[in-house]
Amino acid sequence: MAERSGAAPGRGFWRAIDERVGISGLKYHVPDHAQGLGYSLGAITLVSYLVLVVTGIWMGQFYNPIPDEARASLRYLLTSAPAGLFARNLHYWAANAMLLTALLHMLRVQYTGAFKRPREANWLVGIGLLALTIGLVFTGSVLKWDQEAVEGIAHNVEIANLLGGVGVWFSPSFSGSIPILTRLYIAHVSILPILLAALFAIHALLVKQHGLAPNALAGRDATTRATAGEPSRGTFLGHLGVAGLYSLIGLGLLVFLAVTVPAQLGPAPVEGIELTKPWWMFLPVFAVENAIGLGGLLWASVAIFLALALVPLLDRSSYLHPARRRAILLIYLVFAIVIVGLGIYAKVAPGADHLGMGG
Ligand code: HEM
Repeated sequence: MAERSGAAPGRGFWRAIDERVGISGLKYHVPDHAQGLGYSLGAITLVSYLVLVVTGIWMGQFYNPIPDEARASLRYLLTSAPAGLFARNLHYWAANAMLLTALLHMLRVQYTGAFKRPREANWLVGIGLLALTIGLVFTGSVLKWDQEAVEGIAHNVEIANLLGGVGVWFSPSFSGSIPILTRLYIAHVSILPILLAALFAIHALLVKQHGLAPNALAGRDATTRATAGEPSRGTFLGHLGVAGLYSLIGLGLLVFLAVTVPAQLGPAPVEGIELTKPWWMFLPVFAVENAIGLGGLLWASVAIFLALALVPLLDRSSYLHPARRRAILLIYLVFAIVIVGLGIYAKVAPGADHLGMGG
């Protein structure tokens, strides 16, 4: 009673809200080294995902995932639906941003050794998030039902055949009543986003459980808790503010791109020919496919994910400082250069016929 009469009305209101939703519970200390851009990349990735969900829900009101209707509904979305063109462009740029910031986030974690004991499981959860993000990009890129999309599905079907029983879901024969485009749409709008949200919840819980990794550049041991003996003047709420500010800047950039650079849309598809190249993230494995055929696409993808999953096993010392991990960082630097090099090669090399369909 005394508290109610003594407090200023505004403060009383916030205290009442806090009592019910627990905002002050977010004011736990976060180490100073985590208050910059490097440690906001995961949050920016999440914000891109949220932009994708919102713009995706809007586009879902106009897009029709039946093969014969898909292109006409896309044309309707772009020309007649309210804000349809803007939503599609923003969706396209947010997808690029999500993958790019997830990769930069992974590089930050790798460079600072933040995957080391006890955070190995969270590294693997991160690999799962990366795989789901790439799955979302692929299933999204086929929906526009242009030449690139049809060739993407043709690759999908051939890989399913290569995998035999394991790949049965990816094959058109899995369902006699729903076309493969429609099933890939279902994966894009429900299966993959739900899995990604669930896996992200585990990812965030593990970050909270272990605390952020200690400052690698201060030469600390991976198993010490970051806040133990490290300057931590700010709180998690402040960290959310910093990450929110970077995310807002990123969002501004995405909106700028969405109104100035339209998303790709190729010509109407012609079945049985192979002319296009995939999105940038698939170019490195596409280069391997150019060299050794369709199987290269599958085995190069498996090899890249395996090499990423092995990081915590190959770099097991408790040292975090990059100078004490030179050899392993050098190996992964060469690995990254090879991947980027393959991507550049695929971009400049002439298109190839992988499926025997002709060009
Ligand atoms: C694709 C979606 C992803 C999202 C939304 C995400 C989100 C986050 C967030 C918000 C954090 C807290 C600190 C920070 O931002 O650095 C974090 C930490 C972490 N993430 Fe991710 N992440 C993703 C992918 C990945 C990937 C691909 C990896 C690695 C393969 C990974 C490994 C980790 C690890 C090990 C930590 C703990 C880092 C530390 O303690 O310093 N994450 N993630």
